[in-house]
Amino acid sequence: MRAFLLLFICVLATSNAQEPDHAHGCTYGSCYPATGDLLVGREKNLKASSTCGLRRREPYCIVSHLQEEKKCFHCDSRRPYDPSSNTMSHRFENVITTFKEHRKKSWWQSENGKPDVYLQLDLEAEFHFTHLIMAFKTFRPAAMLVERSADFGRTWQVYRYFAHDCDSIFPGISQSPLHKIDDVICESRYSDIEPSTEGEVIYRVLEPAIRIDDPYSPSIQNQLRITNLRVNFTKLHTLGDNLLDSRPEIKEKYYYAMYELVVRGNCFCYGHASECAPIEGIRGDIEGMVHGRCVCNHNTKGLNCEKCDDFYNDLPWRPAEGRNTNACKKCNCNNHSNKCHFDMAVYLATGNFSGGVCDNCLHNTMGRNCETCKPFYYQDPTRDIRDPGVCVVCDCDPDGSLNGGICDGHDDPSLGMIAGQCRCKDYVEGPRCDKCKPGFYGLSANDPRGC
Ligand SMILES: *[C@@H]1O[C@H](CO)[C@@H](O)[C@H](O)[C@H]1NC(C)=O
Ligand SMILES: *[C@@H]1O[C@H](CO)[C@@H](O)[C@H](O)[C@H]1NC(C)=O
Ligand SMILES: *[C@@H]1O[C@H](CO)[C@@H](O)[C@H](O)[C@H]1NC(C)=O
Repeated sequence: MRAFLLLFICVLATSNAQEPDHAHGCTYGSCYPATGDLLVGREKNLKASSTCGLRRREPYCIVSHLQEEKKCFHCDSRRPYDPSSNTMSHRFENVITTFKEHRKKSWWQSENGKPDVYLQLDLEAEFHFTHLIMAFKTFRPAAMLVERSADFGRTWQVYRYFAHDCDSIFPGISQSPLHKIDDVICESRYSDIEPSTEGEVIYRVLEPAIRIDDPYSPSIQNQLRITNLRVNFTKLHTLGDNLLDSRPEIKEKYYYAMYELVVRGNCFCYGHASECAPIEGIRGDIEGMVHGRCVCNHNTKGLNCEKCDDFYNDLPWRPAEGRNTNACKKCNCNNHSNKCHFDMAVYLATGNFSGGVCDNCLHNTMGRNCETCKPFYYQDPTRDIRDPGVCVVCDCDPDGSLNGGICDGHDDPSLGMIAGQCRCKDYVEGPRCDKCKPGFYGLSANDPRGC
């Protein structure tokens, strides 16, 4: 156990070495929540396809390939493990690391003689998974694989295969050392028959052997994303016995048994949060539990900060990278709207400067930024463009004015425009265009010259 703990500490130390300095929080760049054991508080999200003694007491035996002696016991998992009364229960939840003293007295154990068994963790949101540590009570599996889903179980991708003999068990899977972070290989170092107890299997998504320039580049982030994690055990070490042999005394010796399973990870926020909170329906009072709802910064929102906040749609949403927060930017609607959307065509047309388009401009304004007055209104030159009273209705007689009474919308000396100025038909005059010029009569909407 001490060896296991030491290794565990080493793993943590190396993984921390790849993470950037968190001291600055989220203000000056990307930020990330602390990692923890994703299993803590998630007993109900864990599933083992096989557990001994779930329906009735079942016998099992312990063998060592060194001594030929055999010791037999019983497994009874009808009730949960209880250190004071029920120590024969070997349900899967026993593998969760808690700071209990009976660590080595409780474990998960599969049914006798079944080589195909899987363990699965279903998460309630997207998380980042960094590494996995398993400590076995019996021999480690002769063959197994680790796979993940990032879409709540619709599709799965294998992370890695492990086998005593990769060539015969997983033919076609490369055994060469990793070159890229997403290479799928078969490893044999964790599948030996030695040690017969307390052997470990460790899988790290970011192998320290691979040089990573930017651990937070999108491709690496993608490799870490999980919503579900599954470990398939596919072959038992059987010390020369054949599991097709139907005698119980043979089968009773072979099963999987695990003391501890640790799934390290953190909640996944695209670099926009350093803290996570429980998502709806999840208890918030379990010590050490890693929660799934990001407490978003940089004007982002969503369980994973995967969207811009309302009214922050002036730039496209992006993950934070290194010293760039890539924060979402507020739309400018000149105080005439509190709704906007992002328009890629507008963004590209502005040379990637601004793509926000205001929705439902109020106060008789219009335009992408609610920056001009609607037809039949003009911009009062004495008021600020953000003033609710900036657009004043034109006062032009529709019968005597051109264009049905539209006045000049704003001052523009170069075009000869004067805000509020009515434009009269040929034979009409007056500030409101409501008088026939001298010598004319009969002001009429139907007369193109007015009188
Ligand atoms: C792992 O086991 C599950 C359940 O039996 C199965 O559906 C899945 O295809 C297996 N994965 C691989 C890669 O064989
Ligand atoms: C503008 O943004 C688009 C889309 O994100 C990108 O493809 C393009 O390279 C950017 N152009 C400039 C000049 O940055
Ligand atoms: C714009 O609206 C904000 C919030 O409603 C207000 O505090 C601010 O004074 C307004 N600005 C102008 C120029 O009206």
